[in-house]
Amino acid sequence: MLGARLSRWTMSYFAAALIALVAAELLMALGYGYPGAPVESAETLVLVHLVALGWLSLLMCGALFQFVPVLVARPLYSDSLPLPTLACLVAGLATLLLGFLQMDGIVSIPFAFFPMAAALLAIGFGLVLWNLGRTLWVARPLPLPARFVAVGLCSIAATVTFGIIFTLVLGGVTDNPHLVDVVASGVPLHAIAGLGGWLTFTAMGVTYRLLAMFMLAPELGGPRSRTGFYCGTAALAVAIVGGVTAICLAASVTLVLFAAGLLGLCALLLYGADILHLYRARKRRMIELNSRMAAFAIASLAASVILIVVLAGLGILAQHVAAVVFLVAFGWLSGLALAKLYKIAAFLTWLECYGPVLGKMATPRVQDLTVERRAIGWFLLYFVAVWAATAALLLEMPVVFQICAGLMLIASLGIIVQLVRIRQLLDVSATLRLPPGVRVPLLLRCSVQHD
Ligand code: HEM
Repeated sequence: MLGARLSRWTMSYFAAALIALVAAELLMALGYGYPGAPVESAETLVLVHLVALGWLSLLMCGALFQFVPVLVARPLYSDSLPLPTLACLVAGLATLLLGFLQMDGIVSIPFAFFPMAAALLAIGFGLVLWNLGRTLWVARPLPLPARFVAVGLCSIAATVTFGIIFTLVLGGVTDNPHLVDVVASGVPLHAIAGLGGWLTFTAMGVTYRLLAMFMLAPELGGPRSRTGFYCGTAALAVAIVGGVTAICLAASVTLVLFAAGLLGLCALLLYGADILHLYRARKRRMIELNSRMAAFAIASLAASVILIVVLAGLGILAQHVAAVVFLVAFGWLSGLALAKLYKIAAFLTWLECYGPVLGKMATPRVQDLTVERRAIGWFLLYFVAVWAATAALLLEMPVVFQICAGLMLIASLGIIVQLVRIRQLLDVSATLRLPPGVRVPLLLRCSVQHD
């Protein structure tokens, strides 16, 4: 089970993340950033970081504060750090976005936004690494899913380091020639460390455990899973360490990325085989909505890999890289996040409200907090809109892309309404909803901790 101890601030991370998702989708629907503006424009940088940091990274951090203790069967190192961590991350993100707008002349306040963003994000992610790192460290030897998380944490350290170098150079704090070279050639490494290492690799580790848990499938950790883990870790090491070395030696980064890509492909093929095995070996024949929608997200990951291989084969990958990044960010990562959020919100709310009175009186089951037949339509709309938006990017149809982004926004809002209903126990039958001693929980904070 997901562990009895609740992380007090995880819901606040989820709420902040969902606000960033809605803001990003609204901006895309209004035609802000790529494809209406160039990939390297300030507008696109705002959008990219609103999604990567505001939505996906905040969500991941909140989920890990809850989930890492479950993975290693130990308590979180500190229950009090997540709140100041959240404050630093949100303030750091806001300052970074202002820095991008200042770079473009849209914001003209004479304030050193970039150095400030670098400091706040360094502290914020430093606290994440300290808290989760200490939790993992005492639990060695780590089970496989936790090892994926550990590599993900190393990757966010690399991503943030690149990001800090970028901000310090762009903010005029340093003109060290090596660092200027890193800015000139390091953006792909920064994006791979963030999307590939931090977000994808961590999500892969988490799915091993969550899919097995929610579908009652056997836990995996055999030779195939371990080989996949080592291939993926090697791919990230080659891309990040090899890439930086190539930049410093003025050698070809493309060659390094090609080698990393082959290793990454092996890792994803092995992961795909494991996931198929999990779905086939499950004991729960009728799987819940979250596991069905996770399959769509994983299919989007597979489609992204196929797209990369085909586009690279045709020699047009560089031209269409934004479409691939979009499918990874919204089909795979966001799709998986929304699907799992639907279950996790229900589970944590159930644990918070009914855990303390379990066995003492009649309580609803976790699934009584949700109405899947109402939620499914929003999820389907979301995935269809994401896939159509990817096609619109590939076919260079910006207006169609905006319409699809609008549909993604509507679908996300529909899913958010379901999440709020879950949190407020609105779908639980009146007879079971509030037995003596049970109150409707706070929206943003888990108020009960129990072992
Ligand atoms: C998960 C985390 C992150 C991801 C996935 C990510 C992704 C990206 C991507 C894809 C780009 C290129 C975008 C474009 O050209 O339109 C980029 C650029 C940039 N990122 Fe990040 N980023 C992350 C975190 C950060 C952090 C923490 C910082 C600051 C501390 C940062 C600072 C920057 C800067 C300054 C650029 C512009 C570089 C330039 O134009 O030369 N990023 N990032």
